[in-house]
Amino acid sequence: MTQPDLQQWAKTSLGFFPTPLHELNNFSALYPEYRVFIKRDDLTGLATGGNKTRKLEYLIGDAVARGADTIITAGAQQSNHCRQTAAACAMKGLKCHLLLGGDQPQTYTGNLLLSHLLGANIHFTGENRKGEDIQPLMEKLRQAGDNPYEVPYGGSNLTGAMGFVEAAGELQQQLREQDLTIDYIFFASSSGAMQAGLMLGMELYGLEAGLMPVNIDKEELDGSKLEKHMQALHKEGKKKLALKDPDKPVTMPLIQDFDQAGYGVVTQNETRAIQQLARHEGIILDPVYTARAFYGMMHYLANGLLKKQANVLFWHTGGIPATMHYAKELTGN
Ligand SMILES: Cc1ncc(COP(=O)(O)O)c(C=O)c1O
Repeated sequence: MTQPDLQQWAKTSLGFFPTPLHELNNFSALYPEYRVFIKRDDLTGLATGGNKTRKLEYLIGDAVARGADTIITAGAQQSNHCRQTAAACAMKGLKCHLLLGGDQPQTYTGNLLLSHLLGANIHFTGENRKGEDIQPLMEKLRQAGDNPYEVPYGGSNLTGAMGFVEAAGELQQQLREQDLTIDYIFFASSSGAMQAGLMLGMELYGLEAGLMPVNIDKEELDGSKLEKHMQALHKEGKKKLALKDPDKPVTMPLIQDFDQAGYGVVTQNETRAIQQLARHEGIILDPVYTARAFYGMMHYLANGLLKKQANVLFWHTGGIPATMHYAKELTGN
């Protein structure tokens, strides 16, 4: 559903779109004042799917257009972004290098196992999990005759964000087809390009809803606050898309009430959210991102913090393989 405005970006097809949009009937019944819907980016299809597929369609498209033969990216060992990047590289015949935080574990599980099976070259980078070591590796690969392309941590630049500009248009089209309006959109926000892209896309396509991004990682990104990174992306995007008032300061919504345990630490909150959705709807959340965001939404629903009779959307951003890595926490909490 690419509109003319987006044609300036190269794009390659990696997933199945549009992803389904449907009501959570059993779950909604727990909160009689609200109707709750879900957007299923867990079903994009790229080695189990996830929100990064949308970003990678633009990032890998750009890499291919520039003649790259190798992709480098970074993340945590259970990074969904890295697993989907490895899958995209396999589809497009590109070499893939993943820089993953921590030391090599004895047993590969979850996303790490899948990234290995997908043929990625895996480098363990100790304390660095946000791409700090990408540049030296780029240089080394160049010297070895490769033509590497950097996909930043989380795919979080404007090229990646374009996937979510387009996603806003996709959602708007589905809402029209289903004769629905949405008052709030909850989702997990972490490296920022999904949020910045959605904000740009909502403006571009005239889609109105309250954005309710739940912050996942309380640590800073590249030594600065996530809001700052998103503001910069948003401003750059406004200019590129010729949207009005690009220099007008914008306040970034970001719910920071549920990130206290730290990134990747699974608490009773995440476990409760996973069980709630699984046992009412047969849908699995991941313990790091979507469960934290879903728990945040449950808190708002249970405490009547949203306007009455609202239609609420949860954007499921994937992450299922990580669930297999957290078996102990998810059965012990
Ligand atoms: C499952 C899942 N949900 C949400 C996000 C957050 O998306 P973004 O990094 O664009 O904020 C990620 C990022 O890694 C993810 O893997």
